Amino acid sequence: MDQSKLLPEIKARRSIRKYTSQAVEQEKIDLLLEAARLAPSVCNLQPLKILVVNKPVDLAFVSRASYSLGAVATAPLIFVALVQKNITDCLSVRVGELLENGAIPQINLDNLVSAEGKPFKLKLGNKYTYMSAAAALEHIVLQALHLNLGSCWVNHFDEAEVRAYFSIPPDFEIISLLTLGYAEENPKPRPRLASLLYSPPVIQENSV
Ligand SMILES: Cc1cc2nc3c(=O)[nH]c(=O)nc-3n(C[C@H](O)[C@H](O)[C@H](O)COP(=O)(O)O)c2cc1C
Repeated sequence: MDQSKLLPEIKARRSIRKYTSQAVEQEKIDLLLEAARLAPSVCNLQPLKILVVNKPVDLAFVSRASYSLGAVATAPLIFVALVQKNITDCLSVRVGELLENGAIPQINLDNLVSAEGKPFKLKLGNKYTYMSAAAALEHIVLQALHLNLGSCWVNHFDEAEVRAYFSIPPDFEIISLLTLGYAEENPKPRPRLASLLYSPPVIQENSV
């Protein structure tokens, strides 16, 4: 196992909130989008769409719609992350592709039961759509590291203002912004919990 890959880069990543004025090259934008396109998603539904904002007038608007706070103020590139609300309409097509590809076996779901005998239920809905979109956005964050670009997620923006400015139709939800660009700052590591390990509570059998 090569331990010199990925984790050191993950350790060096910071949310960048101050960027130089250098534009991000189209070639790099294409690579960032490609990294997101290849991300895993629930039932391969691929709910994420990205609006690329890099014109000064548009950036200035998005910055104001985001309270001109932190990363948006200087970012030369902002990805507006959208999810398609009716994405499950594509379920049979996407699952059909997976079956054809051999990625999943052709099985009768009606025969499946849980440990306690409950029938299988397909888990779809907003939670899984957001999880899928977040996975793809984090792919962009990691690809950005390789391209010497900083990034910062931004969820503090006025969705209605951004929607109106770019005429985004109601069948898309705007879930986040992702600012990108060449870093003008070198922040120290942000605090983290010592461990994410979860230990279930110990139940004392003779406690009553
Ligand atoms: C879903 C999400 C939303 C975030 N929203 C914002 C935001 O609105 N503004 C901001 O400056 N940073 C935002 N961040 C960045 C976090 O504040 C940052 O990741 C955290 O403080 C840890 O710092 P680090 O990324 O430098 O390790 C967001 C991060 C995530 C994952």
